[in-house]
Amino acid sequence: MESFCFNYAFNLCWILLLVTQEYHSCRLSPGCQHFPDTNTYSCSGRIWKETKFDNISMDDRINMRILEMCNVNQETLNLHKIHTKFPNLINITIWQGNISSITNSFLPHNQIKVLQLRNLKIETIPAKFLSSLTKIEVLDLSGNSLQSLDPKVIEEINRIPFTNLSNNQWNCSLNLEWVALLNTSSIPGAKNLTCYQQPYQGIPIIPIAKFKENVHTSCPERCSCTMYDVLRNPKNFDDLERFIEVNCSNRNFLEFPPILPDKTKTLMLDRNQIRSLLPLINNPLYKDVQDLDLDNNFIDSIEDLEGSSWFINFRVLSLRNNQLVQVPTYAFDNALQENPSMPTGVTLFLSGNPWKCDCSFIPPFQDLLRKYKSQVQDVNDIKCSPVEGDKKSPMVIVDMPRSAMCRLPNDYAVNALDLVNGILASLIILILGKLAYDYYHFKRTGRLPWIVTKIP
Ligand SMILES: *[C@@H]1O[C@H](CO)[C@@H](O)[C@H](O)[C@H]1NC(C)=O
Ligand SMILES: *[C@@H]1O[C@H](CO)[C@@H](O)[C@H](O)[C@H]1NC(C)=O
Ligand SMILES: *[C@@H]1O[C@H](CO)[C@@H](O)[C@H](O)[C@H]1NC(C)=O
Ligand SMILES: *[C@@H]1O[C@H](CO)[C@@H](O)[C@H](O)[C@H]1NC(C)=O
Ligand SMILES: *[C@@H]1O[C@H](CO)[C@@H](O)[C@H](O)[C@H]1NC(C)=O
Ligand SMILES: *[C@@H]1O[C@H](CO)[C@@H](O)[C@H](O)[C@H]1NC(C)=O
Ligand SMILES: *[C@@H]1O[C@H](CO)[C@@H](O)[C@H](O)[C@H]1NC(C)=O
Ligand SMILES: *[C@@H]1O[C@H](CO)[C@@H](O)[C@H](O)[C@H]1NC(C)=O
Repeated sequence: MESFCFNYAFNLCWILLLVTQEYHSCRLSPGCQHFPDTNTYSCSGRIWKETKFDNISMDDRINMRILEMCNVNQETLNLHKIHTKFPNLINITIWQGNISSITNSFLPHNQIKVLQLRNLKIETIPAKFLSSLTKIEVLDLSGNSLQSLDPKVIEEINRIPFTNLSNNQWNCSLNLEWVALLNTSSIPGAKNLTCYQQPYQGIPIIPIAKFKENVHTSCPERCSCTMYDVLRNPKNFDDLERFIEVNCSNRNFLEFPPILPDKTKTLMLDRNQIRSLLPLINNPLYKDVQDLDLDNNFIDSIEDLEGSSWFINFRVLSLRNNQLVQVPTYAFDNALQENPSMPTGVTLFLSGNPWKCDCSFIPPFQDLLRKYKSQVQDVNDIKCSPVEGDKKSPMVIVDMPRSAMCRLPNDYAVNALDLVNGILASLIILILGKLAYDYYHFKRTGRLPWIVTKIP
């Protein structure tokens, strides 16, 4: 430590050495002890009453440089009053006790260089009290009950060469704009300050403040965005994974919002009028979206997702009550097989769509639904689109017998190509028949067919 001090950062290091020096241990019984050689007064108990501050000679008071107090049984701390009593103090250390607020400031022209208010229950720091400390070099506020700091207080703290703010009760539910103002070179432990309670308990406040700022500034208009959790990567302590939910339910969106907070995991876009899924594969902001609720929109195809990395990495995809008629079963199967969250992490909802129950789509679709029965949560509600004029209720696709599916009413609707094929086949039969008849007729009567007599 000493050689480090001589090499560089001399001032800060000198201060650190001072702060870590031994000091008189706390007196158990209330009262004060005077150490004339160091001009130190070491007290415990209730200030004024038990410490008998009033019973000290004038000379002693003027000469006093260091005041230590512990086990302070008192809720408020009046530094102005102490300073009036001991006008030449340079070092005040008050630790352990139930002081929760600081009233009053020091007098102007004070000589205070070190102020340690440690392991008390201080809840707020008044900016005025700090601005009165013009000579201060070390401020230790560790182990208090601070939940937040006022930007004006940060301004004062940033001009102090060394401040310790550790072991407080930083409340990360509150506005964290103050965190960005902290000067991390004058607050060596700033990077280690952590959120005290849920959410984000034990996570450093500096990244949390940055994440919250991003969630706030890039939340799509009309939506609400929340960072509901932040976890440490067990393999790399500094790597934080955030969980962001964006709620755009029922907000009249015609398409996917163009912006999203970084690392959005859950996106609720149900009850809108969205038709296209293309932004999921084109907009890089969507690459981390894993839980997507698109119920009650106008999506009529998921073919855009075919072969995309989004389709391989999603966890929840809810497409209830859209306009899906068919899905590319082969691509669906491939994507699910490659999905790293399979089998337990993948959930799908596909009911309420007008599925087209024809002979070519249903067998592979049925295979798909049966194969992924535990992922498709609403498999027993996925039904054929109701046929006009058919009074029977639509069939549940996964239960349809193979024999039934190709004799459904809409299969009788012959398509145009089939019609052409049919006509051509009957024409061939007709011509062959006529040929046979003509041949037979010629053999019997020797008369050529009428058409041959007309050919010159
Ligand atoms: C201030 O007082 C504290 C506690 O008594 C002590 O540890 C520290 O060394 C003192 N600093 C100075 C500069 O006297
Ligand atoms: C004040 O201190 C003197 C001597 O230090 C002592 O005799 C006297 O009892 C003290 N008075 C009180 C009120 O404690
Ligand atoms: C402050 O703490 C002491 C013990 O350290 C306790 O006896 C006292 O009742 C507390 N005072 C208040 C007002 O809470
Ligand atoms: C941050 O603190 C360092 C060391 O005390 C100081 O040199 C620097 O000017 C401060 N920066 C700001 C922006 O306050
Ligand atoms: C700040 O205070 C805490 C608790 O009092 C102590 O453990 C820590 O070492 C201090 N940090 C620095 C940088 O001195
Ligand atoms: C933290 O702040 C939130 C929001 O203001 C508040 O509801 C909560 O009670 C605070 N936590 C504590 C421990 O005071
Ligand atoms: C911050 O915490 C890390 C790990 O707990 C520790 O190594 C480092 O010394 C701390 N820094 C300060 C300035 O307290
Ligand atoms: C999303 O927002 C809507 C409208 O504010 C609300 O009704 C709904 O409960 C929210 N959903 C969730 C999951 O928070």
